[in-house]
Amino acid sequence: MTTPISRGPRPRATARAAVLLAGAVVAATLSACSASGGERPEASPEPGQTTTSAPEAGEATPPAAPAPGDPPDAAADDVPDEVFGGLGDPRIDVRHYEVVVTADPGRAELSGTATLTLAATTEEPLPSFTLDLKGPTVSAVEVDGEAAEVDEAPEELEITPTEALRPGVEVEVAITYAGEPELAEFPGLGVPVGWQADSEGGWFTMSEPDGTSTWVPVNEHPSDKATWTITLDTPADQVGVANGRLVSREVQGDRRRWVWETDEPMATYLVLAAVGDYDLVERTGPGGVRIVLAFPTSLPEARRAGFDELDDILTFFEDTFGGMPDDDSGAIVVATPLGLALETQTRPLFGIDAVGSEEVWALAHEIAHQWYGNAVSPASWADLWLNEGFATYADWLYLDHTGRVDVADSAGGRGDVIPSRGLAVLDPEAAGTFDGAVYDGGARTLHALRLTVGDDAFFEILERWYAEHDGTSVTTADFTDLAEEVAGEDLEAFFDDWLRAEEQPDLPE
Ligand code: ARG
Ligand code: ZN
Repeated sequence: MTTPISRGPRPRATARAAVLLAGAVVAATLSACSASGGERPEASPEPGQTTTSAPEAGEATPPAAPAPGDPPDAAADDVPDEVFGGLGDPRIDVRHYEVVVTADPGRAELSGTATLTLAATTEEPLPSFTLDLKGPTVSAVEVDGEAAEVDEAPEELEITPTEALRPGVEVEVAITYAGEPELAEFPGLGVPVGWQADSEGGWFTMSEPDGTSTWVPVNEHPSDKATWTITLDTPADQVGVANGRLVSREVQGDRRRWVWETDEPMATYLVLAAVGDYDLVERTGPGGVRIVLAFPTSLPEARRAGFDELDDILTFFEDTFGGMPDDDSGAIVVATPLGLALETQTRPLFGIDAVGSEEVWALAHEIAHQWYGNAVSPASWADLWLNEGFATYADWLYLDHTGRVDVADSAGGRGDVIPSRGLAVLDPEAAGTFDGAVYDGGARTLHALRLTVGDDAFFEILERWYAEHDGTSVTTADFTDLAEEVAGEDLEAFFDDWLRAEEQPDLPE
């Protein structure tokens, strides 16, 4: 692919679909733009890719890969989740991950140690628990310094310490592992999920919803958030990038250890790791926030310019949502056309095709997620609109604030921005395929709420949603309760119409 996505005028809807959706869609969009600027031809699927055609905006798109979410797994050791089942263990609460990973560009295998501080959430002592791990195998597990038994099932470790975990009492679980990450494919999108090679020989992770377990053992569900210390042990001439604050970058012989630390708890899908040839641009942003931008050294200055707007975006959202979500911020661009960006915590990740001044909405979108999705996280994947509807509405607000697109026009462009199959916002299938329903449908719901309760109540709801739930995982019911409390009215019928019906009503006048 030689055509940069930022070349040439395109309708905004096309740009959005290209940035948020899979490679096949991007390929189709790009060839359409560069060839004729007119109609999009059918995309030819890459080998191993299941997406077969580029969906027209607003057109029904049949799911290509197996339908989302394994059937909800009733096992006691999985978090019940009707969208992405079979993950996590609700009987434990991980509070901190301390991870050291040795990874070299060009080598498929990685090795690591992960030390998890966790406690049982059960009322009775817990004899064993599970962690998710896909690919690497384990050579040792210790719980509080004592060897524990480990059963390695595909994609899951069952750990049995010599003594049962006492409810609420923290233990340290140290796991030594090595091997090749086992990439998953995102349902319906054909996007690889997890630790993957970039186009220049390095590595990066794109982990929504369950890719972090391809390179570190985790409790892989957004209902269990934790702080992280990530050490990337790389060849001395390579750069290792992760979330949060860079606390050291010491050279030891021909290796370098990049140590990154987060202060705020994060959901596992928001963990970022990348190793390669990066320029780190470090500066201080609004209110003293520490900004670290990581660009592939090959990325020309002109294509980095869109990130100059980061400070304005942070300031606008700080004013609108009340407070900064973190002391650390920034972004990373990876040297691979991904067809998407992801809101990895503090440092969102952009495919090389998602940068440029025309993609400023994408930067605003991923930065908005730092409040909605990251600080305030969904308790289950069925609540995905709490991420995508909010970040989409926030990027509409930013486009409106800068005079680019009136928010009423964004909200009025029903169904033509991110392709939707006409599902309800809360349909688990919409969440499981990142359908346009959760993006535009969710954002339109918020705009309708604003028109219904008025600006004062609406922005108070947004501020309190962040202030009162920062650092936690929440449900749709938590949101509708808050909205009713602030508005002082019964909104049950409103939310049924906007979130549960396949066809949304007309926006209130
Ligand atoms: N959460 C990303 C966003 O900002 C979208 C990623 C969609 N693709 C995926 N495989 N999760 O909208
Ligand atoms: Zn998003």
